[in-house]
Amino acid sequence: MAAKDSSVSPASHVAIIMDGNGRWAKSRGKPRLYGHKMGARRVREVVEACPDHGVRYLTLYAFSTENWKRAPAEVAGLMALFRQFIRAEMADLVRDGVRVRFIGDRRPLNSKLRRLMGELEQATARNDTLHLTVALNYGARDELARAAARMAADVAAGEICADTVDADSLRPYLDTADLPDPDLVIRTSGETRISNFLLWQAAYSEFEFTPVYWPDFGRSELGSILENFGTRERRFGAVLT
Ligand code: IPE
Ligand code: IPE
Ligand code: MG
Repeated sequence: MAAKDSSVSPASHVAIIMDGNGRWAKSRGKPRLYGHKMGARRVREVVEACPDHGVRYLTLYAFSTENWKRAPAEVAGLMALFRQFIRAEMADLVRDGVRVRFIGDRRPLNSKLRRLMGELEQATARNDTLHLTVALNYGARDELARAAARMAADVAAGEICADTVDADSLRPYLDTADLPDPDLVIRTSGETRISNFLLWQAAYSEFEFTPVYWPDFGRSELGSILENFGTRERRFGAVLT
Protein backbone atom coordinates (compact mmCIF):
# COMPACT_ATOMS: atom_id res chain seq x y z
CA MET A 1 0.00 0.00 0.00
CA ALA A 2 1.24 3.52 -0.76
CA ALA A 3 1.96 6.12 1.89
CA LYS A 4 -1.12 8.12 2.87
CA ASP A 5 0.43 11.48 2.10
CA SER A 6 2.91 11.38 -0.74
CA SER A 7 4.04 15.00 -0.18
CA VAL A 8 6.11 13.97 2.87
CA SER A 9 8.87 11.41 2.78
CA PRO A 10 7.80 8.27 4.65
CA ALA A 11 10.01 6.51 7.13
CA SER A 12 10.85 3.34 5.29
CA HIS A 13 12.42 1.68 8.33
CA VAL A 14 11.05 2.34 11.81
CA ALA A 15 12.68 0.80 14.88
CA ILE A 16 10.91 0.83 18.24
CA ILE A 17 12.21 0.41 21.78
CA MET A 18 9.00 -0.95 23.33
CA ASP A 19 9.40 0.30 26.90
CA GLY A 20 7.15 0.90 29.90
CA ASN A 21 5.25 -2.39 30.27
CA GLY A 22 6.23 -2.71 33.94
CA ARG A 23 5.27 0.85 34.90
CA TRP A 24 2.02 0.55 32.96
CA ALA A 25 1.12 -2.56 34.98
CA LYS A 26 2.26 -1.02 38.27
CA SER A 27 0.07 2.03 37.74
CA ARG A 28 -2.88 -0.38 37.56
CA GLY A 29 -1.82 -2.42 40.58
CA LYS A 30 -1.02 -5.41 38.36
CA PRO A 31 2.07 -7.63 38.11
CA ARG A 32 4.76 -6.72 35.57
CA LEU A 33 3.95 -9.75 33.44
CA TYR A 34 0.45 -8.45 32.88
CA GLY A 35 2.05 -5.35 31.35
CA HIS A 36 4.15 -7.54 29.06
CA LYS A 37 1.05 -9.45 27.94
CA MET A 38 -0.82 -6.25 27.13
CA GLY A 39 2.29 -4.93 25.41
CA ALA A 40 2.49 -8.00 23.19
CA ARG A 41 -1.06 -7.25 22.00
CA ARG A 42 0.09 -3.88 20.69
CA VAL A 43 2.56 -5.50 18.33
CA ARG A 44 -0.18 -6.72 16.00
CA GLU A 45 -1.80 -3.27 15.80
CA VAL A 46 1.50 -1.57 15.00
CA VAL A 47 2.45 -4.26 12.45
CA GLU A 48 -0.90 -3.80 10.72
CA ALA A 49 -0.57 -0.01 10.68
CA CYS A 50 2.89 0.09 9.10
CA PRO A 51 2.01 -0.63 5.45
CA ASP A 52 -0.66 2.11 5.57
CA HIS A 53 2.11 4.62 6.29
CA GLY A 54 4.62 3.42 3.74
CA VAL A 55 6.75 1.68 6.40
CA ARG A 56 8.38 -1.37 4.82
CA TYR A 57 10.73 -2.32 7.65
CA LEU A 58 9.75 -2.47 11.32
CA THR A 59 12.28 -3.49 13.95
CA LEU A 60 11.11 -4.14 17.50
CA TYR A 61 13.32 -4.40 20.58
CA ALA A 62 11.78 -7.27 22.56
CA PHE A 63 14.53 -8.43 24.93
CA SER A 64 18.01 -7.01 25.47
CA THR A 65 21.22 -8.77 26.45
CA GLU A 66 20.89 -6.85 29.74
CA ASN A 67 17.32 -8.01 30.45
CA TRP A 68 18.64 -11.32 31.89
CA LYS A 69 19.41 -9.27 35.01
CA ARG A 70 15.70 -9.24 35.87
CA ALA A 71 14.02 -11.62 38.31
CA PRO A 72 14.03 -15.19 36.97
CA ALA A 73 10.22 -15.31 37.05
CA GLU A 74 9.96 -12.23 34.84
CA VAL A 75 12.53 -13.59 32.38
CA ALA A 76 10.75 -16.95 32.24
CA GLY A 77 7.41 -15.19 31.77
CA LEU A 78 8.80 -13.14 28.89
CA MET A 79 10.25 -16.23 27.21
CA ALA A 80 6.88 -18.01 27.53
CA LEU A 81 5.20 -14.94 26.06
CA PHE A 82 7.55 -14.98 23.05
CA ARG A 83 6.66 -18.63 22.42
CA GLN A 84 2.93 -17.93 22.76
CA PHE A 85 3.20 -14.93 20.49
CA ILE A 86 4.89 -16.89 17.71
CA ARG A 87 2.35 -19.72 17.92
CA ALA A 88 -0.62 -17.36 18.00
CA GLU A 89 0.51 -14.98 15.26
CA MET A 90 2.27 -17.28 12.76
CA ALA A 91 -0.73 -17.92 10.48
CA ASP A 92 -1.78 -14.26 10.30
CA LEU A 93 1.77 -13.07 9.66
CA VAL A 94 2.08 -15.54 6.78
CA ARG A 95 -1.29 -14.44 5.41
CA ASP A 96 -0.56 -10.71 5.74
CA GLY A 97 2.72 -10.86 3.84
CA VAL A 98 4.92 -10.09 6.85
CA ARG A 99 8.46 -11.43 6.66
CA VAL A 100 9.81 -12.03 10.13
CA ARG A 101 13.47 -12.16 11.10
CA PHE A 102 15.13 -12.27 14.50
CA ILE A 103 18.34 -10.50 15.44
CA GLY A 104 20.47 -11.08 18.52
CA ASP A 105 22.30 -14.09 19.88
CA ARG A 106 19.94 -17.09 19.95
CA ARG A 107 22.40 -19.49 21.55
CA PRO A 108 21.37 -18.77 25.18
CA LEU A 109 17.65 -19.10 24.35
CA ASN A 110 15.71 -22.21 25.16
CA SER A 111 15.58 -24.78 22.36
CA LYS A 112 11.76 -24.72 22.05
CA LEU A 113 11.81 -20.97 21.50
CA ARG A 114 14.71 -21.23 19.04
CA ARG A 115 12.81 -23.83 17.05
CA LEU A 116 9.69 -21.64 16.89
CA MET A 117 11.78 -18.65 15.81
CA GLY A 118 13.27 -20.71 12.99
CA GLU A 119 9.83 -21.97 11.95
CA LEU A 120 8.40 -18.45 11.81
CA GLU A 121 11.37 -17.21 9.76
CA GLN A 122 10.98 -20.08 7.32
CA ALA A 123 7.21 -19.81 7.05
CA THR A 124 7.41 -16.09 6.20
CA ALA A 125 10.62 -16.14 4.14
CA ARG A 126 8.89 -15.38 0.84
CA ASN A 127 6.78 -12.50 2.21
CA ASP A 128 7.58 -8.94 1.19
CA THR A 129 4.82 -6.54 2.34
CA LEU A 130 6.43 -5.70 5.67
CA HIS A 131 9.82 -6.81 6.94
CA LEU A 132 9.44 -7.30 10.69
CA THR A 133 12.65 -7.78 12.64
CA VAL A 134 12.44 -8.77 16.29
CA ALA A 135 15.48 -8.08 18.45
CA LEU A 136 15.54 -10.90 21.00
CA ASN A 137 18.53 -11.31 23.27
CA TYR A 138 19.94 -8.45 21.24
CA GLY A 139 22.58 -5.96 22.37
CA ALA A 140 24.44 -3.74 19.96
CA ARG A 141 27.78 -4.19 21.73
CA ASP A 142 27.31 -7.94 21.62
CA GLU A 143 26.36 -7.75 17.93
CA LEU A 144 29.46 -5.66 17.16
CA ALA A 145 31.70 -8.06 19.09
CA ARG A 146 30.26 -11.07 17.22
CA ALA A 147 30.67 -9.20 13.92
CA ALA A 148 34.27 -8.28 14.72
CA ALA A 149 35.05 -11.89 15.64
CA ARG A 150 33.67 -13.16 12.34
CA MET A 151 35.52 -10.50 10.40
CA ALA A 152 38.77 -11.34 12.21
CA ALA A 153 38.24 -15.00 11.27
CA ASP A 154 37.84 -14.00 7.62
CA VAL A 155 41.03 -11.94 7.78
CA ALA A 156 42.87 -14.90 9.34
CA ALA A 157 41.52 -17.18 6.59
CA GLY A 158 42.73 -14.75 3.92
CA GLU A 159 39.18 -14.03 2.72
CA ILE A 160 39.55 -10.29 3.28
CA CYS A 161 42.55 -8.01 3.76
CA ALA A 162 42.75 -5.89 6.94
CA ASP A 163 44.14 -2.93 4.93
CA THR A 164 40.94 -2.63 2.89
CA VAL A 165 38.56 -2.47 5.84
CA ASP A 166 36.51 0.74 5.74
CA ALA A 167 33.34 2.14 7.36
CA ASP A 168 31.05 -0.10 5.32
CA SER A 169 33.05 -3.31 5.70
CA LEU A 170 31.37 -4.29 8.95
CA ARG A 171 27.83 -4.14 7.55
CA PRO A 172 27.71 -7.66 6.07
CA TYR A 173 28.83 -9.11 9.42
CA LEU A 174 26.06 -7.43 11.43
CA ASP A 175 22.84 -9.22 12.39
CA THR A 176 21.06 -6.60 10.27
CA ALA A 177 23.15 -7.27 7.15
CA ASP A 178 20.05 -7.61 4.96
CA LEU A 179 18.24 -4.54 6.32
CA PRO A 180 18.49 -0.84 5.55
CA ASP A 181 19.47 1.43 8.45
CA PRO A 182 16.50 2.73 10.47
CA ASP A 183 15.17 6.11 9.37
CA LEU A 184 13.42 6.61 12.68
CA VAL A 185 13.94 5.19 16.17
CA ILE A 186 11.00 5.54 18.57
CA ARG A 187 11.22 4.90 22.31
CA THR A 188 8.09 4.77 24.43
CA SER A 189 7.75 5.34 28.20
CA GLY A 190 9.56 8.68 28.48
CA GLU A 191 13.10 7.31 28.83
CA THR A 192 15.52 9.14 26.55
CA ARG A 193 18.29 6.58 26.11
CA ILE A 194 19.20 3.98 23.52
CA SER A 195 19.85 1.05 25.90
CA ASN A 196 22.25 -0.81 23.59
CA PHE A 197 19.91 -0.84 20.57
CA LEU A 198 21.24 -0.62 16.99
CA LEU A 199 24.21 1.58 17.93
CA TRP A 200 25.90 1.20 14.54
CA GLN A 201 22.77 1.27 12.39
CA ALA A 202 21.22 4.33 14.07
CA ALA A 203 24.17 6.61 13.25
CA TYR A 204 21.90 8.88 11.18
CA SER A 205 18.46 7.89 12.41
CA GLU A 206 15.96 10.44 13.60
CA PHE A 207 14.76 9.89 17.20
CA GLU A 208 11.36 10.29 18.75
CA PHE A 209 10.69 9.85 22.46
CA THR A 210 7.11 9.60 23.65
CA PRO A 211 5.92 9.45 27.27
CA VAL A 212 3.27 6.87 26.30
CA TYR A 213 3.87 3.45 27.84
CA TRP A 214 4.14 0.66 25.26
CA PRO A 215 0.81 -1.04 26.18
CA ASP A 216 -0.92 2.29 25.34
CA PHE A 217 0.94 2.80 22.06
CA GLY A 218 -1.06 2.09 18.94
CA ARG A 219 -2.08 3.12 15.47
CA SER A 220 -2.81 6.77 16.29
CA GLU A 221 0.45 7.35 18.25
CA LEU A 222 2.43 5.83 15.39
CA GLY A 223 0.51 7.94 12.88
CA SER A 224 1.30 11.24 14.58
CA ILE A 225 4.97 10.37 15.05
CA LEU A 226 5.27 9.47 11.37
CA GLU A 227 3.54 12.71 10.39
CA ASN A 228 6.11 14.64 12.39
CA PHE A 229 8.93 12.60 10.87
CA GLY A 230 7.79 13.68 7.41
CA THR A 231 8.51 17.32 8.27
CA ARG A 232 12.08 16.75 9.41
CA GLU A 233 15.06 17.81 7.35
CA ARG A 234 17.68 15.10 7.30
CA ARG A 235 21.10 16.44 6.40
CA PHE A 236 23.53 13.53 6.79
CA GLY A 237 26.31 16.01 7.44
CA ALA A 238 25.78 18.04 4.29
CA VAL A 239 24.59 21.64 3.85
CA LEU A 240 21.31 21.60 1.98
CA THR A 241 20.73 24.35 -0.52
C1 IPE B 1 9.76 -3.14 28.20
O1 IPE B 1 9.07 -2.79 29.36
C2 IPE B 1 9.81 -4.63 27.97
C3 IPE B 1 11.14 -5.24 28.14
C4 IPE B 1 12.23 -4.58 28.42
C5 IPE B 1 11.23 -6.67 27.98
P1 IPE B 1 9.79 -2.82 30.78
O2 IPE B 1 9.65 -4.16 31.38
O3 IPE B 1 11.19 -2.34 30.67
O4 IPE B 1 8.90 -1.77 31.58
P2 IPE B 1 9.43 -0.67 32.60
O5 IPE B 1 10.48 0.12 31.89
O6 IPE B 1 9.96 -1.39 33.80
O7 IPE B 1 8.21 0.14 32.90
C1 IPE C 1 15.18 -1.62 26.65
O1 IPE C 1 14.36 -1.40 27.76
C2 IPE C 1 15.06 -3.02 26.17
C3 IPE C 1 13.78 -3.36 25.56
C4 IPE C 1 12.77 -2.55 25.36
C5 IPE C 1 13.64 -4.74 25.15
P1 IPE C 1 14.90 -1.55 29.26
O2 IPE C 1 13.75 -1.23 30.14
O3 IPE C 1 15.56 -2.85 29.43
O4 IPE C 1 16.01 -0.42 29.30
P2 IPE C 1 16.64 0.36 30.55
O5 IPE C 1 17.08 -0.67 31.53
O6 IPE C 1 15.56 1.24 31.11
O7 IPE C 1 17.76 1.16 29.96
MG1 MG D 1 12.04 -0.54 30.78
